Amino acid sequence: MELIDGKKVASDIKLEIADEVEKIKQNGGKIPHLAAVLVGHDGASETYVANKIKACELVGVKSTLIRFEDTVSQDELLDKVEELNQHNDIDGFIVQLPLPDHISEQRVIEAIDPKKDVDGFHPVNVGRMVIGLPAFISATPAGILELMKRYNIDPSAKNCVIIGRSNIVGRPLSILLSQKREQGNATVTVCHTRTKNLKEVCTKADIIIVALGSPEFLQADMVKEGAVVIDVGTSRVKSDKTKSGWKLKGDVNFEEVAPKCSFITPVPGGVGPMTIVSLLRNTLLAAGKKIYN
Ligand code: GUN
Repeated sequence: MELIDGKKVASDIKLEIADEVEKIKQNGGKIPHLAAVLVGHDGASETYVANKIKACELVGVKSTLIRFEDTVSQDELLDKVEELNQHNDIDGFIVQLPLPDHISEQRVIEAIDPKKDVDGFHPVNVGRMVIGLPAFISATPAGILELMKRYNIDPSAKNCVIIGRSNIVGRPLSILLSQKREQGNATVTVCHTRTKNLKEVCTKADIIIVALGSPEFLQADMVKEGAVVIDVGTSRVKSDKTKSGWKLKGDVNFEEVAPKCSFITPVPGGVGPMTIVSLLRNTLLAAGKKIYN
């Protein structure tokens, strides 16, 4: 069994991105600039956004954090989105989700200019991705494909089972993995709450990707010997062993499943660190006008 070290790969890629940014600077180019909009004070969102800003600093990408209280109206937020769409120096921006209940996330996402949608959540980017046109690809699917590539895990002709059909992970990943493309050409099955005989489906899989948000959902008897297991879960569960009072748990029963795998991602330190790297990559693509020109 080989552990897939997402932290190490992400840190290697950040160095590569830092080099690219340095070259842009040396050639007198414009420094890429990412903005992040954070509404409210949700603990997980605060951490994610702080990590995104920190990563920008590390690689030399300019960043701007825009904060709103969770009482902000939808119109105020939409005005800010429009301002960012028009802002000449900002190449790409994200609105951290989830948003408070009185704001429609879909309205906000659709208000973002697809050319600046470095999260890849806008329907234009999703649609372009589906039909194989250049598009911003959302951070988690892009991070997983890159992680597999760096470990020479080629999904081509493999049976790939994805558990979870979210718009952010399971759905886009299922499309990307089945496309005729690098890190594609897999035979993909998407499983969800209505799937019958999940265990039977999973035990036929060469690659299992679990993106449910259900701690330790995947058990050893669902995994065939030698399978690759990618764990996208990041549930916060209570712990009296940490200062914060919680720890991150993945969707895989790691202790039991790991010995059966050829490769497995840990939580934390697997897929998580890769998502920030994907966001940085998309920011560079936006700045270089590589997706839309
Ligand atoms: N909330 C959880 N993950 C993400 C993400 O990748 N982007 C945004 N904008 N919000 C999130």
